[in-house]
Amino acid sequence: MSKASWGIGAVALMAMGCDGSAGTPPMAGPVSGFEGGEPGIDFGAQSSLPGAVVRSERALRPVSGGTLLVLRDQKTAVVADPDRDQLFVVDLQRAAVSRTISLEAGAEPGRAVEDAAGVVHVALRGSGQLVSLDPSRGELLGARSVCAYPRGVASAEGVVHVACAEGKLVSLSTDPKKNEPVRTLTLERDLRDVVIASDGLWVSLFRAAEVLRLDSTGKVLRRMFLPSLAGSQGESVSSVAWRMVPGATGGVVVVHQRAFAGEVVASAGGYGATGASGGMVSTAITIVTEEGSAQGTSVALAAPLPVDVAQSPVSGRFLLAAAAVEHPVEGSRFGRNLLLRPSQLALSAQPTETFVDGEVEAAPSEVPRGQLVAVAFAGDVPVLQYREPSSLVVGSLGIELPGESLEDTGSQLFHLETSSGLACASCHPEGQEDGRTWHFSGFGPRRTQSLRGGLLGTEPFHWDGLETDFAALTGDVMQGRMGGPQLDAEQNMALASYLDVLPAMPAPAASRTASVERGEALFNDATVGCATCHSGSRFSNDQTVDVGSLDGVMQVPGLVGLWARAPYLHDGCAKTLLDRFTTCDTGKHGVVSQLKSEDLRALTDYLETL
Ligand code: HEC
Ligand code: HEC
Repeated sequence: MSKASWGIGAVALMAMGCDGSAGTPPMAGPVSGFEGGEPGIDFGAQSSLPGAVVRSERALRPVSGGTLLVLRDQKTAVVADPDRDQLFVVDLQRAAVSRTISLEAGAEPGRAVEDAAGVVHVALRGSGQLVSLDPSRGELLGARSVCAYPRGVASAEGVVHVACAEGKLVSLSTDPKKNEPVRTLTLERDLRDVVIASDGLWVSLFRAAEVLRLDSTGKVLRRMFLPSLAGSQGESVSSVAWRMVPGATGGVVVVHQRAFAGEVVASAGGYGATGASGGMVSTAITIVTEEGSAQGTSVALAAPLPVDVAQSPVSGRFLLAAAAVEHPVEGSRFGRNLLLRPSQLALSAQPTETFVDGEVEAAPSEVPRGQLVAVAFAGDVPVLQYREPSSLVVGSLGIELPGESLEDTGSQLFHLETSSGLACASCHPEGQEDGRTWHFSGFGPRRTQSLRGGLLGTEPFHWDGLETDFAALTGDVMQGRMGGPQLDAEQNMALASYLDVLPAMPAPAASRTASVERGEALFNDATVGCATCHSGSRFSNDQTVDVGSLDGVMQVPGLVGLWARAPYLHDGCAKTLLDRFTTCDTGKHGVVSQLKSEDLRALTDYLETL
């Protein structure tokens, strides 16, 4: 189908508005998503989208960043294609794909690391494995089961460390034949990336955007919060750390979002009109030094969905991948990368705000390009990975990667940058949720809901069930609050269908302990009464009911993948599952007052397995 309808034009390395003053929204420069809007002013909806609706025949995977690895020789790249379950070994000098490795369907390859012997280890999110690859021969050397949802990988001293969403940090031998982990640490939920430190490890937490520094024994030495940003309307706090990579001179570089902590207006254009910098959700890069001070240097960037970052070991320049898709009417760009000089990030030792004067670099017009999903450097040459059409750009060379087109209007809409500077995926990263409880003026606190594990057929939507169907939701949220385009029926169906097949987060492997058995029995016990509302395979009857919330009646949420989405309840009251039954119990939400502490423990043990 016509890709031109989405206005593929030059990749823009764009200039940012730069006045250097803290707290000023970076809205003046051409990079701004505000298109001249000002805080407090409602700007009209974007025009409707041109072009035919295209649907991918494959169920697509959410964009996660970090799917590109340049090997130590600086001449070879290993590229993961999570949509097609393939790995490619690419000769960057000849601009040619030298090997294609097919993995089992649903493997969903993600991040990769090269060990000292040149073996590449790739985390498979879909199958929970670590596969090891000889890149020169394109041969798989082994596949080992690691955990439910492996994300980050790092390697040193004969060991590969794998950071798992369920909170385990599993260390395996680099020898693919050795299945037993060398060490398994249980840290906390939502681990994202792992980086080798001078003596120990750095580990990031995805939604909380925190960085843990571990010593060599695995003890947590420090927990670092990435700096927030104060603005005239209130504070924007760090959230959703998409990617953490090694800094060129030690320490780590984290690219993350910031979310407005103040009151949000849900009226038309409201999501763009609020926020300390760049709307409700903005982008920042923070550098954390090996000295370990929590102070990084933060840079506000108006580039939505910052899924990946790289720092050149040669020049120290940074490359950032912003995966938002631009509206074809207003812009002609698809995916953004920003190339930043190190001086631009080293302006302040304080965790204060510095706006960047991004370099403008025209990309050659003949290379294929689409949604930018990962970045790396080969020497000092930027290497960019695009999702659709699947391709790499190395310096000025374009390299097409094998595979049929997976163009999909639903995916494009989910990642579309609206005039508020937000995409749906800004708050629903990877189709999940950002872990935030937003404060809406008028109707109170609302935690972002996860969109994984099936959406169609669970209507009505939102906690209070006021969005009767998907079209009502996009009309209110996409066109209304976000200032995006109005979607027609076909576009709505494309977006809903894209989301509908995003798989639920797989539950951590739990043994059927006596406690889990007991918890399940209690859950199904008529006197405790959970299963009356939390029924069926999704554990919801989709009713809107009164469970004693002061904010009114609420939709019964499904409970599949619950372990991955703390805090709980519509207002985020329960930091842990146990809180749901203790400090946050209303007395009208099932009957739990008679349960002893070991019963509650059993219930939560059971719920964690769903
Ligand atoms: C500013 C953050 C933000 C953005 C942007 C955002 N959402 Fe949400 N989403 C939320 C919050 C918060 C809720 C819960 C809202 C409520 O209950 O009032 C939610 C709930 C939902 C739900 C309901 C899920 C259910 O089970 O009932 C769907 C569906 C959804 N969002 C889809 C989208 C789509 C599609 C977009 C883009 C058009 C989008 N969201 C953009 C924050 C966001
Ligand atoms: C009358 C229907 C009903 C019954 C009975 C019920 N729930 Fe709920 N449940 C709800 C509703 C509605 C919510 C959302 C409430 C809110 O967010 O304020 C909810 C929320 C939850 C959540 C939080 C989910 C999330 O995503 O944040 C958990 C966990 C939960 N229920 C477990 C249970 C357990 C365990 C029982 C039995 C003790 C139970 N519920 C009984 C309707 C019910």
